[in-house]
Amino acid sequence: MLETYQPPPIHGGEFYLKPVISMDQFDTTSLEKLFKLAEHMRCLDRNIGDVSLVKAQAVLLFYEPSTRTRVSFEIAIKQIGGQPTVVTDPQHFSSVSKGESFGDTIQAFAAYSDLIVLRHPEKGSAAQAAAAIEANLKRMPRSVPIVNAGDGIGEHPTQAMLDLYTIWRRFGRLENLNVVCVGDIKNGRTIHSLLRGLSLYKGNTAWLLSPPQLQLDSRLADRLITAGLQICEIDSLEMLPPVSQVWYWTRVQRERFTDHTEYEQLSSSFVLTNEVLAKYGDHDLIIMHPLPRVGEISEEVDKDPRAEYLGEQIRAGKHIRMALVAMLLNRDLEP
Ligand code: NCD
Repeated sequence: MLETYQPPPIHGGEFYLKPVISMDQFDTTSLEKLFKLAEHMRCLDRNIGDVSLVKAQAVLLFYEPSTRTRVSFEIAIKQIGGQPTVVTDPQHFSSVSKGESFGDTIQAFAAYSDLIVLRHPEKGSAAQAAAAIEANLKRMPRSVPIVNAGDGIGEHPTQAMLDLYTIWRRFGRLENLNVVCVGDIKNGRTIHSLLRGLSLYKGNTAWLLSPPQLQLDSRLADRLITAGLQICEIDSLEMLPPVSQVWYWTRVQRERFTDHTEYEQLSSSFVLTNEVLAKYGDHDLIIMHPLPRVGEISEEVDKDPRAEYLGEQIRAGKHIRMALVAMLLNRDLEP
C-alpha cells in the first residue's frame, strides 16, 4: 500500500480533510491562504480572542520527544475550540507495547478523533498512517487527516510552513532569496521540508553549509534542482554568499547516528558566534533555528536584533498551526 500511496495535492487553497505529509503536496496559492489566516490568528491571539472554528477532537501521537511542536499544536487546537488528547511514548504506554501494529493503532485513534498529529522516528511513517486511513475509509463516517509532525529523517512540513511564514512576514516575499542552511543537511527533516517549500517559488538559492558527511541526499538535491531551486553545497564559512536574507542554523541530529564518535566529531563543525556574525553576516538577514539548539548558536547571539529563533519564529508556530488545523477541519474556510 505504502509504495503506491501518494498524498493528495493541496492546491488552490483546498485543505479540507486532506492529510499533510510533505511540502511536495502544496502550491503557492495554498500557502498564501494559510499565511493570511495565520495573520488573522495572530491578531486574535494578541487580543486574547476565542475562536470557535472547530469543535474537533484531535489526537497528538508522539513516538519521539518534542517540546515546541507538541505544545504549540496542543495550545493551537484548544485556542480554536478543539480538544487535543496527547499520547506520548505509545511504545511504552499503549497497546503498541503489547505488539500492536502501527496500522491498528492509527485506526483506533482515527475512530475516536477528527485529526491525528503524528511524530514518529521512521521516515515514511506519516504516509503509512495516511495510507491506513485511506484503506479503511469505507468504514468511517469521514476521513481523519494525518498531520506529519516529523517522520524520522523525512520531513517536518508544519515547521517549514512556520519558517516560510516567518520569512514572508519579514521580507514580504518568498522569491529571489538567498537562504543559507547550516548543520545536518543530511538528517535534518526541517531542512528537507524548507527546501521543498523554497523550490515552489521563483529565483531562490539555497546555500547548504555542512561537513561533507552531512550533505543533502543527492536524489533529493536533483529533484529540488529540477523543481527550480538553485543549490550550492559549501563546506566552509569563507564560502558563504556576501548577501543573504536567512541563516537557518540547525543542530547535528545525534539520534540519527549509530557511531557516537562520528557524532562527537561532527557536532561542533559550525558554531555561530558574534565573531562569525560580524565577519560574514549581512545587515538585513534573519537568523533562524528550528530548535532545540545544543551549542551550535552561542547564547551571546541571542541579543542580536537579527536573531529570530527565540522570538517571532517560535510564535509563528502557534499561529500557523491554528490556521492549518482550522483549514483542515472547517469546510467554511474553503475558497
Ligand atoms: C526539530 C525536529 O524535531 O525535527 N524540532 C522541531 O520540531 N522544532 C529540529 C530538531 O530536532 O533538531
